[in-house]
Amino acid sequence: MENDIISYSSVSSQKKGIVTSKKIPDDLIKDITSLRPTSFKEYIGQNDTVETLKIAIQAAKMREEPLDHILLHGPPGLGKTTVSHIIANEMGKDLTVTSGPTLEKGGDLIGILTNLGEGDMLFIDEIHRIPKIVEEFLYPAMEDFAVDFVFDKGIHARSHRYRLKQFVLIGATTRVGLLSSPLRDRFGIFRTLDFYTVEQLVIIVKRSALILDTPISNDGALELAERSRGTPRVTNRLLKRVRDYSQVKSHGKVTKESVRAALELEGIDKLGLTSLDRNYLRTIIEFYNGGPVGIEAIAATLQEETDTLVDVVEPFLLKMGLVQRTSSGRKTSTMAYQHMKSKS
Ligand SMILES: Nc1ncnc2c1ncn2[C@@H]1O[C@H](COP(=O)(O)OP(=O)(O)OP(=O)(O)O)[C@@H](O)[C@H]1O
Ligand SMILES: [Mg+2]
Repeated sequence: MENDIISYSSVSSQKKGIVTSKKIPDDLIKDITSLRPTSFKEYIGQNDTVETLKIAIQAAKMREEPLDHILLHGPPGLGKTTVSHIIANEMGKDLTVTSGPTLEKGGDLIGILTNLGEGDMLFIDEIHRIPKIVEEFLYPAMEDFAVDFVFDKGIHARSHRYRLKQFVLIGATTRVGLLSSPLRDRFGIFRTLDFYTVEQLVIIVKRSALILDTPISNDGALELAERSRGTPRVTNRLLKRVRDYSQVKSHGKVTKESVRAALELEGIDKLGLTSLDRNYLRTIIEFYNGGPVGIEAIAATLQEETDTLVDVVEPFLLKMGLVQRTSSGRKTSTMAYQHMKSKS
């Protein structure tokens, strides 16, 4: 099966665009890429992570050595992919992008690894979903910059070691707990990205509005930031919906009122919760008396994938204190009851 690997020079990516591409993931579609910061200067927030990375990059440059392997962890849409592009830009190296589930066989990974130049970066998204057989090729690749080929089978089996260039692996994951410890231990730098504050999201809204040439009032930007679930990807997506709404209904300018009206149509409430978030809370409150209840039971009642609930829904609800995770299951908080009663 063909992989949907995208390979392009990040240094000249602005000019050259994507060189080879089988399938373009959602977040590489042109409109979205134009909003993606390309340097640390434009990258808002995540100050500790940015500081760690800047120091590592500067030190590697001074020693004229490649960077350590980097593992980035955090809920979807907080900027793991963005940071990886910036790192490659700052190092002046190429970035090859792939993801765990597309690497089905050892050969898929070896093909990519043998094409990397000295100091080049390999970004593996959803690295926790790499099949075990592929993961085993990664160990010597990360540690000794070598891959071991085995020819023939049984008593005729011979192995041959192939030397790789010193590449840098950047792994991204929403679930670091699912990574095997030998893999986790091979990363020199490990950082977790956190949800953004409303103040940081206001800056992101204004920056994106400027790029999209959309006038927005201060209270409009604040309202949108407050309803963005602490997540820049959500901010950018909602901004586009609000821009459409404002263009059709209120002469183009985005205001607090147009944000409210547009997001009501999208089913986004004042805390930024989506209908799935609210269904999740309602299930625990109404079906399970507020919990504690196991995640599998909630998923079955909602007819949703457990992974979606754990990766996408729960991190923000936990962060907001609307749910708690206890040893006996999930529980909703008093705040969740109040919010669900208020119905807005
Ligand atoms: N710090 C930031 N400042 C400004 N914009 C940002 C920042 N981080 C992310 N964004 C915006 O949010 C979008 C989503 O970011 P990105 O694709 O990097 O998320 P991600 O963490 O890789 O998500 P996923 O885990 O789903 O792949 C980007 O297109 C970018 O426009
Ligand atoms: Mg990503």
